[in-house]
Order: sequence, then structure tokens, then C-alpha cells
Amino acid sequence: MQPVRKAVIPSAGLGTRSLPATKSIPKEMLTIVDRPIIQYAVEEARAAGIEVLIFVTSRGKTSLEDHFDHQAELYSVLQGRGKSAQLAQARSSEIAAGRYAFVRQPEPMGLGHAVWCARQFIGNEPFAVLLPDEVFLASVPPLKQMLQAFATTGGNLVGVREVPLHMTNRYGILDPASDDGHIAAARDLVEKPEPDVAPSRLSVIGRYILQPDVLDQLDRQPPGAGGEIQLTDAIAGTIGRQPLHGVRVAGERFDCGDCTQLISANLAFSLRRPELATSVRAAAERILSDAVVNDIQVPTARVA
Ligand code: UTP
Repeated sequence: MQPVRKAVIPSAGLGTRSLPATKSIPKEMLTIVDRPIIQYAVEEARAAGIEVLIFVTSRGKTSLEDHFDHQAELYSVLQGRGKSAQLAQARSSEIAAGRYAFVRQPEPMGLGHAVWCARQFIGNEPFAVLLPDEVFLASVPPLKQMLQAFATTGGNLVGVREVPLHMTNRYGILDPASDDGHIAAARDLVEKPEPDVAPSRLSVIGRYILQPDVLDQLDRQPPGAGGEIQLTDAIAGTIGRQPLHGVRVAGERFDCGDCTQLISANLAFSLRRPELATSVRAAAERILSDAVVNDIQVPTARVA
């Protein structure tokens, strides 16, 4: 079996759920504790042994490139001031030269189209896809869990989790032919089925290991739900040529495009950082119990 060496990180979406912040800050640069959410995806990919990262970006996202770049001026100032801890922090987001590429998606035509834009860099080998706005708190990084499963399944593999029945119409849902409680073999993948026709509650999450066939499928893929070129449609289109499996990923998932989940992720990650846990817990408890603070109104995102 060919090893999975490359990962695509689609980051060209508009981030409309996070406005007004995302008018000028890419959603991927919003932070959890002290690092942008996209760095969590990069660290997860590295922990899974991925060698090459392909970012798909769009207009207004150059801060992503700067974040992973060598910042000589900042490093020399920190070095000159003897700030070795801060220097190490700044350098921790660097990716080695030749190990990453940025490609543009000219228009947000959907996740499938974003992956297709990376095809020349992927070549003819299996590859991973990580949606950076989905951040996981897991003892084994999700992509690593998936690569372990991929060693037995091969073909196309999607991360899945069980969702309540009334939520099936928000996700790609697996139609399982068999399921051992960890890995399900699928006969189909259905985009956003209504609960009464949903073949299961196994929803696809933002982690994939795909065969290059999916790129050929995307070559001729018409727009699907929402007028976008859907990655799930392309994966479903290869069934018959490639086996498709779903693997349940252990860990807590945060969809950081959603305000509540971004706040929850900040709380969950900071409570697991030894240098922050005590003070964050104390601050949260004080805010929750402070009647004065709780009476104060703050501006909402609503426009008058
Ligand atoms: P989302 O639908 O969650 O992201 O896409 P979005 O469109 O940026 O956000 P909202 O819903 O408007 O708030 C999932 C992932 O796919 C990427 C996004 O950047 C995100 O990482 N994506 C989506 C693209 O790269 N291109 C697209 O055309 C669509």
C-alpha cells in the first residue's frame, strides 16, 4: 500500500458564520489560546507523519503564509533581547522549506473544488484532507487514528461521528453495509438527507484519506447541494471502483466556525495547559458567579 505523505488543508472559504471578524481576518487565523486554529491542523498532520502540506487559500489570506514562514526580523530582535522562550514559541509555527505549498482557489466553489485546485501538487498518490476549522481534543490525533484504520481498509476512508437523527440534514451521511462499532464499510454516502430517509446517523467529519481517483471524479463533478462542488459527491462517485469506509474518531470535536464551539475550544484547551489551567478556571468561576458582570449588556453582532 502506498504511504500517505501529503495532506491538503482547504482554507479558502469565506467564513460567513464568523463575521464581522472574518471581513479582514481569515477564519483559520482566529485563535484557540495562543495559536491560530490552522496551526492545530498542521500539528495534527505532523503528528501523523505527514511530510508535505498543501494549503488551498484565497484572496485576503496571506497572513496564513506569513504565519508558517521564517520571520528573520522578529527572531533577531527576540534573540538580541535574550527572549529564548518567546523565540522558541515564534519558531514553533515554522514549516521547513520545500515541505509546503500554497495554491489559490479563485472562487469559493465548494470543498470539492478546493481539493481539486490542489491536484497538481497531490499527484498520483493517496492523500489526507484536514478541514482546519474542525479542531479536536484527543489523546491520539484524529489523523493518526485514521491512518491506523487505513492500514486495514485502504481505499477511501472518512472520519465519522454519530449525530442525533434530527441533525442528519446538515451533514454527509454514510449508508453502511456493515459496521463493527469502530469501522463501517459503506455502500453509499448521501449529502444532507432528511431524518426520515437518512440511512444512518454516521456523519462525515472534516478528516479524509482519499485515493487520487477522487481527483479524476472531481474533474467531471457537476455542482451539487448549494450549487457547490461537493467532496462527498466525488467520494460517492468512486464507490464501485474504490472501497469506502468510515472510522469513528475518538475525541472531542470543535467546529470553530461556530461561535459557541470556538469559545468552548478555548476553554477546553486552556484548561489542559498546566501554566493556564488554574487561573482560567478561577476566572471562569468568578465570571459565572458574578451577578454584576452578568447584568452588563455587551454589543451583539446584530445590526440595528
Ligand atoms: P465551511 O463551509 O465550514 O467554511 O467549509 P466556510 O465556507 O469558510 O465557512 P462559513 O460556513 O461561511 O462560516 C469547510 C472548509 O472548507 C473550506 C473552508 O475554508 C473550510 O476550511 N472551503 C470551503 C474552501 O476551501 N473552499 C470552498 O469553496 C468552501
